[in-house]
Amino acid sequence: MASFSENSMNVYILFTIIFGLGFLHATAELQKFTHTPKADGSLSFLVVGDWGRRGEYNQSDVALQMGDVGEKLDIDFVVSTGDNFYDDGLTSEHDPNFEDSFTKIYTARSLQKRWYSVLGNHDYRGDVEAQLSPFLRIIDKRWICLRSFIVDSELAEIFFVDTTPFVRDYFTVSEGHTYDWREVYPPKTYISTMLKDLDIALRQSTAKWKFVVGHHAIRSIGHHGDTPELRSHLLPILQANNVDFYVNGHDHCLEHISDNASPIQFLVSGAGSKAWRGDVQNLNGKDVHFFYDGQGFMSVQLTQTEADIVFYDVHGHVLHKTNSSKKELHSSI
Ligand SMILES: *[C@@H]1O[C@H](CO)[C@@H](O)[C@H](O)[C@H]1NC(C)=O
Ligand SMILES: *[C@@H]1O[C@H](CO)[C@@H](O)[C@H](O)[C@H]1NC(C)=O
Repeated sequence: MASFSENSMNVYILFTIIFGLGFLHATAELQKFTHTPKADGSLSFLVVGDWGRRGEYNQSDVALQMGDVGEKLDIDFVVSTGDNFYDDGLTSEHDPNFEDSFTKIYTARSLQKRWYSVLGNHDYRGDVEAQLSPFLRIIDKRWICLRSFIVDSELAEIFFVDTTPFVRDYFTVSEGHTYDWREVYPPKTYISTMLKDLDIALRQSTAKWKFVVGHHAIRSIGHHGDTPELRSHLLPILQANNVDFYVNGHDHCLEHISDNASPIQFLVSGAGSKAWRGDVQNLNGKDVHFFYDGQGFMSVQLTQTEADIVFYDVHGHVLHKTNSSKKELHSSI
């Protein structure tokens, strides 16, 4: 009898260990892509969002200017803040919209680099799995789109976050659109796992500069404005881990915002095609350094001591610059 209970205790311990490890495995690390900085130690990239419209609404003009700026800055890669394909994402891996709105539009030599993309709410209205499929890389090897992942260089670490499942309105029938929530249900678990993975990865990061990229805004004065769910669930993690920049799209404009709750700079680059929405939200405690309602994109240049951010319009003209060191930040228009 004594040996039986000892055995069952051992079995219990064994199961605890197995399930314990299984649990750790379930919250596995986010996938990481690495980039070695340039020979001089710097790193540069462009950021564009809300773009895939087969070249229309000035998408092609923005693409042309991205090519020029990309050449000048010798960019290492491009970041897309989501809403990659309008109106309803891709219908399948074979949807011609992928080539019509991406491959055939961003043709400049300087843009033949990796494109790291998150999903936007419009992407969720199509076949999400298609956009995430490695098959697209056979058609165009630049394309890298995952739900949440990390791009890591010695200088900077960029954390990509899938923000669409945070927004409660998209789960209500009255919203009127159909979303592809496969892999997201139950959203509560999906979000808590993602936030936990992000928090762990941010805490482990030793990078000089930390960027977090998502589709939806934490701070914006554009049409959609702040996303309350991100302010309550995502922002505290960014604040606790000394994130330097939060970058997003969703609002079809360009913005640079800060507030006095933390040193985080909020950068909006969602102006890859349709813009000029013409409405502005309440400032609501925000310090708005720059807001532009029209089309354009953003560039980032990083060294050990400086981060230089520049916003451009559809003609490639510089609209706003901000440069940041770890100690202080200067802004100028
Ligand atoms: C394209 O850009 C030009 C120059 O900014 C602007 O006048 C025009 O309205 C834009 N077109 C669209 C469809 O937004
Ligand atoms: C950053 O801004 C400061 C102040 O405006 C300026 O003196 C400095 O040259 C800028 N640095 C770069 C690399 O542009």
